[in-house]
Amino acid sequence: MRNFTFYNPTRIHFGEGQIAKLARDVPAGSRVLVTHGGGSIFQNGVWQQVEEALVGHQVTRFGGIEANPQFDTLVKATDLARAEQCDFIVAVGGGSVIDGSKFIAAAARHDGDPMELLSGKRITAALPLGCVLTLAATGSESNPHGVVTHVARQEKLSFSSALLYPRFAILDPRTTFSLPPRQIGNGVVDAFVHTIEQYLTYPADAPLQDRYAEGLLLTLIEEGPKALANPEDYAVRANLMWCATQALNGLLGCGVPQDWSTHMIGHELTAIYHIDHAQTLAVVLPALLAERRVAKRDKLLQYATRVWGLKEGDEEHRIDAAIQATRDFFKRMGVPTRLREHGLDADVIPQVLAQLARHGMTALGERRDLDLEASERILLRAL
Ligand code: NZQ
Ligand code: ZN
Repeated sequence: MRNFTFYNPTRIHFGEGQIAKLARDVPAGSRVLVTHGGGSIFQNGVWQQVEEALVGHQVTRFGGIEANPQFDTLVKATDLARAEQCDFIVAVGGGSVIDGSKFIAAAARHDGDPMELLSGKRITAALPLGCVLTLAATGSESNPHGVVTHVARQEKLSFSSALLYPRFAILDPRTTFSLPPRQIGNGVVDAFVHTIEQYLTYPADAPLQDRYAEGLLLTLIEEGPKALANPEDYAVRANLMWCATQALNGLLGCGVPQDWSTHMIGHELTAIYHIDHAQTLAVVLPALLAERRVAKRDKLLQYATRVWGLKEGDEEHRIDAAIQATRDFFKRMGVPTRLREHGLDADVIPQVLAQLARHGMTALGERRDLDLEASERILLRAL
């Protein structure tokens, strides 16, 4: 196992009715900026609970943060936070609202051009932030990362800072009952791929992390389809929500090699063609596993046996069957696995490769040997 430092300060309040804890966890006397998305929180009763819990606080509301939050919108929110002298942010929504709010938190305390925060400049100060999660997927509720879209530049830009861990995250599974099937599928696929990217590399003498990852994958495979079939099954939603948080709260990746190339290629597909984040992953991952079957051979065989119960046939057959099972699972979650299903054909590949090159994504993978030619082969396999 490799050396690591694990740090995760986010306090999790999990379960029904926990939104009331806002009253206690947002410091008394704060001037609070409450951020949200396009309006789902007004239809599912979440806003009402937030408003009731914050009745003793001074609240300014900023809505309209898009899926794949946009830089220009977040700059407007930052201006509002400054004008109202807000000193605490409560993000209410999915990964986009939470990521966007992390950006606002950093930008509100940044004196220069906010674009600098998306260009690798170190974040040295940020407003404190808490969140109410309404979509189990990204893990943003208890990690230090964010992704912001710059529409004019057709770019998804990441940032990260330990200052951006939410102080608290409220996870009430009941808030996810109102998700449309497409977002249920997206959430399960995103959490699944986060787990795979910290697991399906090469053996690293880390049997605990392996089994932890396999536990998450097996739970997602069992519970995911149940959420589509019975959207108001509380136990199913609770298990999915807890899986998604743990898939990207830092614990799984401790001491092991990681391969985020599916995400890096996927981000370009979202930036250029506006495909949902998780839907890009469902297209790229099966193609990537097929392309990288030699480099990932030992872990692919372990994945085939332990996650999919594939014990018959020779090794090549088991690897093929595991990749097919992965693809079938995404389809079962209602998520397409081919570029063509998104109306894209081979003509798009040069543009994706050009974007990868522009962003320095030319040495991806757990061994940094996934170059642009390999990305091209992956995209061809993904057609
Ligand atoms: O805007 P509203 O009206 O709230 O609707 C949203 C949005 O349209 C809706 N929704 C959310 N909760 C709902 C609901 N609809 C009904 N009932 C509810 N309870 O769902 C739609 C999608 O929301 P979004 O927040 O965009 O989805 P998700 O949580 O999948 O977040 C995706 C974003 O997270 C980034 C992605 O790149 C993308 O920008 N990621 C962030 C990561 C991180 N911070 O660690 C890691 C991920 O890999 C990912 O890159
Ligand atoms: Zn993701």
